[in-house]
Formats: sequence, structure tokens, C-alpha cells
Amino acid sequence: MIPLSRPDLSDRERNYVMEVLASGRLALGPFLERFEQAVEAYTNRPAVAVSSGTAGLHLALLAAGVSPGDLVITTPFSFVASANAILCAGAEPLFVDVEEPTLNLDPAKVEALLEAEAVRTEKGVIHRPTGRTIRALLPVEVFGHPLNYTRWRDLADAWGLPLVVDACEAMGSFYVSGASRYHAGSLADFAVFAFYPNKQITTGEGGVVITAREEALPLLRALRNQGRLQGGLWLTHDLVGYNYRMDEMSAAVGLAQMERMEELRARRKAVAERYDALLADLPEVRRPQAASYADVNWFVYVIRVPEDRRDAVMEHLQTRGVEVRPYFDPPIHMQPAYRERFPHLAGKFPVAERASRQVIALPFFNTLQEEDQVRVVEALREALA
Ligand SMILES: Cc1ncc(COP(=O)(O)O)c(C=O)c1O
Repeated sequence: MIPLSRPDLSDRERNYVMEVLASGRLALGPFLERFEQAVEAYTNRPAVAVSSGTAGLHLALLAAGVSPGDLVITTPFSFVASANAILCAGAEPLFVDVEEPTLNLDPAKVEALLEAEAVRTEKGVIHRPTGRTIRALLPVEVFGHPLNYTRWRDLADAWGLPLVVDACEAMGSFYVSGASRYHAGSLADFAVFAFYPNKQITTGEGGVVITAREEALPLLRALRNQGRLQGGLWLTHDLVGYNYRMDEMSAAVGLAQMERMEELRARRKAVAERYDALLADLPEVRRPQAASYADVNWFVYVIRVPEDRRDAVMEHLQTRGVEVRPYFDPPIHMQPAYRERFPHLAGKFPVAERASRQVIALPFFNTLQEEDQVRVVEALREALA
């Protein structure tokens, strides 16, 4: 079977982990700090490492001021964790449809919803149909494709809403504006990366919050560490917090991966470019496309095929030893857990729902060999013939 994903690990990761084990310091040690500094140097924003991307999203929402009963505008086309984090904060997702071809949350539709249904008051942005407060915007950088930050910053600033970006799939992607390059998430108020082993870089389990609001750093650090403010006593808890700490073994792996970022990025790009070339003569296959403002370090390589054939194509690939997955089908509002809570939403997001029926993620990882990519594409060609 050609697997869907596989981490790219070297002696550097192994040596750092052995160093941690030899030191006996397994938590809150030097590797956590070094990993955070490496992420900060790369993204240009201070970083707080946490135990997962989901934990990071939860903390970012709390630091952005999201409270029970609030609404947070987000996308239905994502991994379920982006909406789950909103529920974890006691708030409720207000879903808006996505845009073609990036499949990111559509800023024009968000703007239209705000103009039609919201009013800016001294207490915040009130959603008139429900009387609730819209407290934040939470777009997702789907498959690693960065947001159009000029557009999103204007929108967030016009409404005084914090931009909390789920950049869990976007480590190593950049927003390009003229001669300037900005790392994904770095123009948000808060952004979160995730490092599960299928991601562009991994820590095993882990995540990072970066923020443009330096004043929020003590709160983020306290909330991940059982509410302890920095410099306080171990058994004194100034806030009600969580255990969302990243351990030293994970940070050691993450540091090595950050130090190898350019190598990892170049390999991933080469694999994506090989797929682009191999798939070029399959007219039924829509390949991933980067917008003019995007330098994408793809998380997954997702093609789209006609929806009436998608399931048969996936089945054929599986039987030919090619592991595939429908990222993201069903969309979040049609997940069993969400259909119950939001029964009236099916059919409301036509762009997301159509894309969900067309997507197939192909095997995609740095060490994927050309002959295996040829095998994947041949199996795809047979399935479509
Ligand atoms: C878009 C998105 N959001 C959130 C997450 C959650 O990250 P984690 O699995 O580290 O909690 C992921 C990755 O799994 C993701 O792809």
C-alpha cells in the first residue's frame, strides 16, 4: 500500500530526543524554549507551543475574548477541530460558505453577512437575528493555502473583530504581496499551527499559537499551564487554566524539523510539482491551484474529480494499493455530531458541499518516490477510463 502520509525524520530528530532522555528533563525545559524561538524566527511572531492544534485554537479563542454564548464566524469546509474549538470555548460557530478555487472561507460572503445581519455597537458586533455577539473571525488556511491577508485584515479591522486564523495546515506557506512575503498566520491577531505526523513538520502531537498581540502572551502561557502566571509558585493558580503543555521530546523533534525546514519544504514542493506534471493530461482531474498571492507548502495534495465518479475512483485506487481519503467529506455542518446541533444547515453552503463530493487526497509526503507517484496516477487513469 502506498500510504497517504509519512513523517520525514532524520538523525537530527533522533539525536535531540536522545539528548532529552539523557538529561532527565522531560517537560518545561530548554527544548520547549528553543522550539518556540525557532518558530518565532521563521514566522516573525512570538510563539507559544502547546499540546495540539486543537488546544492552540481553544487558547487563541479565549485570548481573543471569546466567551460562552458568543458567535464566531467560520468555515464548514475544514477539519472538524476548527469548529470544535469554538464549542470548547462555549461559543457557537456561525458558518459561512467558502470561495473557489482555494476553498477557504469567502471574505465577500462574510462581509455580506455582516452587512445584512450585524450591527456594530459599543458592546461589540451584534448579530441581529439571534441577539448574540459576534466575537471573532476564524478562517482556515485549507490544505495549506494562505488567506488573502490584505482582504481579511481590511474586513476584520472594519468591524473591529479579531482575526483568529486556523493555520494548522499551513506551516511553511507564505502570503506574497508585492516584494514582501509574510508567513501564513503572521498577519492575523492569533494563528495556530498543528504538528500531527501527517503535517508539513511534526512534533508527534503538538501545536503552536503565534500572535501579533504581545500583551496576550502571559495569558496564553498561563492558560496552557494550569493558570500559573510566569514567575509564580507551582501550586499557585492565578487563573483557571488547562494542561496544554508541549513536552520536551515533542519540542526536540519540532526543533530539528524547524532547523530542516528549507530541506523539508523543497522536497514537498518537488513531490507536488511531479504530481502536477503527471496529472496534466487528465482533463477530468482538477489539480490544486495556488492563487497569485500564495506560495503554498501543501499539507495534502487534493485533486477534484466529477462528483458522480468520486467514490468509484477512490475505491479503485484503494484496491490498487493507493491509500486515499476524501478531505473534507462530509463538511463540518453535515458531520453526525453537528447535524444534531444544527439540523437546518444541510444544503446551505453549496460551494463547500459540492467540493466535498469531489475531493480526493492522494498519497503525499516528502519521501514519496517518483515510481510510486507514477503508480498512483496510472491507477487514477484506469479508474477514470
Ligand atoms: C484545519 C485543522 N484545524 C485543526 C487541526 C487540529 O490539530 P490537532 O490534530 O493537532 O489538534 C487540524 C489538524 O489535525 C487541522 O487540519
